[in-house]
Amino acid sequence: MTGELDHGQTPATHGSRIDPYVDRYAARATGMVASEIRALFAVASRPEVVSLAGGMPYVTALPLDMVGELVSDLVTRRGPVALQYGSGQGDPHLREQICEVMRLEGIQAGANDVVVTVGSQQALDLVTRIFIDPGDVVLAEGPSYVGALGTFAAYQAKVVHIAMDDQGIVPESLAQTIYALETAGAPIKFLYTIPTFHNPAGVTLNIARRQQVLDICQRAGVLVIEDNPYGLLGFDGEPMRALRADNPDGVVYLGSFSKTLAPGFRVGWALAPHAIRDKLVLAMESAVLSHSSFTQLAVGQYLATQPWREQIKSFKELYRERRDALLDALDALMPPEVTWTRPAGGFFVWATLPDGLDSKAILPRAVAERVAFVPGTGFFSDGSGARHMRLSFCFPEPDRIREGVRRLAGVIEQEMQLRDTFGTSSSRDHNGVDTPGPDLA
Ligand SMILES: Cc1ncc(COP(=O)(O)O)c(C=O)c1O
Repeated sequence: MTGELDHGQTPATHGSRIDPYVDRYAARATGMVASEIRALFAVASRPEVVSLAGGMPYVTALPLDMVGELVSDLVTRRGPVALQYGSGQGDPHLREQICEVMRLEGIQAGANDVVVTVGSQQALDLVTRIFIDPGDVVLAEGPSYVGALGTFAAYQAKVVHIAMDDQGIVPESLAQTIYALETAGAPIKFLYTIPTFHNPAGVTLNIARRQQVLDICQRAGVLVIEDNPYGLLGFDGEPMRALRADNPDGVVYLGSFSKTLAPGFRVGWALAPHAIRDKLVLAMESAVLSHSSFTQLAVGQYLATQPWREQIKSFKELYRERRDALLDALDALMPPEVTWTRPAGGFFVWATLPDGLDSKAILPRAVAERVAFVPGTGFFSDGSGARHMRLSFCFPEPDRIREGVRRLAGVIEQEMQLRDTFGTSSSRDHNGVDTPGPDLA
């Protein structure tokens, strides 16, 4: 056989190109591109760099001994179930518990309508898989979550951004865009929105607009995908009422334990109207057969035996302190021309640079000064957003946050001086950065 292959059956190009299969990939794989800033983030993860870039929850704050005991106990007591295949829809008891968690946001739902997924990222993937053909339109806030944009690109969706301000998505912009697309004959498959403590914008859709957005979508027959991993991490008062609470038939709700417990379990979920749920379960089975029984049961055990509401409360206190450290440092140190959002929960602040500054161009200099952020362009499907940057306050300790802002303010001041002397930073140095990877989620 080897001899036959050697005599002409191996593709002529084999071995002569870096990737001999480069022209064999499906068209959808061309939308999957690694970010040029990944290399920079390898540098940014060095300890001397203050990273205001990554969106990693501060899992160190969990009682890790307790988690260890719980996991060990699970294997000892329920090993044959925990280590076995499970149902494609997810563990029934965990689905009940998920309904209890969602009740905190006003959602009344039955466990039968929940599909447990590998993080809410997989729920996003499954929803996109069952709804999107190449070229179909998805509406999303501009900016939007980088991991969702990556998924939409992988399924060759056409993302149309809807304007948002510091109160969330702008209903007039949504209505006008839907009208324009309908008039142009472009069918809209769904609106993807993060109404509460938005990633990356840090803003929350106000109550009046929530109803408007639901009404506009309902009138136009546009399904709403409500992505809500941060909803329980509000710093003041009670959790916001979810969009899903007011329209069970028109909203698919995506939830996650990544931010309220730990992303390492990779347990998220979708709550969907019956017909959509059925398709999601089939898509789930074709993707992974079933989610890990082990991590589902571990999360279920955690919810059943531990004071999880108290744990969320202590996460909120921790993140509030870090949010305050970031906002206070920005207020004290940033040049007055820089503006930013003031999040009431979640992990992120969205900053806007003065005219003529380009966050992608600034990033290498910021990393050289030992501070990192995510440039705004990764959060738009059309590469706009160069004047913006996302600053995360979830991971560094307050002192490090203050130091990071001091360094960043220095870099921005220098950039402004250079702009005043030589012109815009993008015209001096433009390096066309693509969407950051999910590690920057
Ligand atoms: C808005 C949003 N959606 C979804 C996810 C995915 O979260 P996970 O898959 O860990 O549940 C993230 C992660 O950062 C996020 O910020």
